[in-house]
Amino acid sequence: TRQPVRVTVTGAGGQIGYALVFRIAAGALLGTTTPIHLTLLEIPEGVKAAEGTALELEDCAFDLLRGVTVTDDPAVAFEGVNIAVLVGSRPRGPGMERADLLEANGRIFGPQGTAINAGGADDVRVLVVGNPANTNALIAAAHAPDVPSDRFSAMTRLDHNRAVGQLANHLDVSVGAIHGLTVWGNHSASQYPDVFHATAGGRAVRELVDERWLAETFIPRVAQRGSEIIAVRGGSSVASAANAAIDHVRDWVTGRGVDWTSAGVVSDGSYDVPAGLVCSFPVRSVDGQWRIVPALQLNEFSRSRIAASVAELVEERDAVRALGLLPLARR
Ligand code: NAI
Repeated sequence: TRQPVRVTVTGAGGQIGYALVFRIAAGALLGTTTPIHLTLLEIPEGVKAAEGTALELEDCAFDLLRGVTVTDDPAVAFEGVNIAVLVGSRPRGPGMERADLLEANGRIFGPQGTAINAGGADDVRVLVVGNPANTNALIAAAHAPDVPSDRFSAMTRLDHNRAVGQLANHLDVSVGAIHGLTVWGNHSASQYPDVFHATAGGRAVRELVDERWLAETFIPRVAQRGSEIIAVRGGSSVASAANAAIDHVRDWVTGRGVDWTSAGVVSDGSYDVPAGLVCSFPVRSVDGQWRIVPALQLNEFSRSRIAASVAELVEERDAVRALGLLPLARR
């Protein structure tokens, strides 16, 4: 019998964790024939909630689920891990300065990167969902010098899916008809959802929409969708975030072939994004590796929007570097 794939979810006692682990155990992540061992990492205060989730997982009698481990020890959580979904983080509280936020997250993602470096399987892949996702991924990768940096990624798939949904709705086509859309930059309000290479049912989207709608409606609505959800639902995005995490990992592991999506990956210097930054790019998964879609011609509007979001990423990187949170030279 096949060895189960070891999937670790951090913050598993929280909201996104609860929306995520049942779908993973049901086969949405790796298909309905791949057995899974789930490990739920929490901080001590969250362990009870994760234990409750583990009881419910048992009650689902999922055929694929070969075991569940609940722990508050990163060394245990990442031993032998193949896929790590890092959800638990320290969100910005009222009155919290950015430096405090980055430092609090450095204390989470630094040790988790170290534990992944020590215990992760040879094929370990890491998706960071917890905010600030790009910079948290940068910190984790900087603590894992033995893991190739392309195994770390940050989630901008929710932004991507939001953009696809908005565009399909506006053009009155099915979401499956939309291709070639990109979310660039930081997973923050500065992100840039770019339709200039997108097609809808084979037609160039730039010929189907006017620039005013793009600049005044589409881009801000996608970038501020998280706030819209909070205002309307009375709580942050949860099920859609879990769904995006599953889309990201599934496409990463199984490959997408010709189509592209968006993911925060370590820049190789493409598109004038400084090498080493974790930035959202247009990507395809080839042989289980994210590859940045090369050689797109970017117009002036796109270049300036991307540059603004990249400048924010540079600031975040410089801030965490100044805090000593990017310690290790990469091999
Ligand atoms: P939540 O507060 O319901 O759950 C977070 C859980 O993480 C809590 O149970 C907490 O105890 C746990 N946790 C905190 N520190 C931890 C650590 N060091 N190790 C293990 N667990 C730890 O929050 P929710 O709604 O599940 O959101 C989680 C994160 O995802 C937030 O940072 C949120 O901003 C982010 N997010 C990111 C999105 C993206 O598109 N990248 C979309 C939506 C949310």
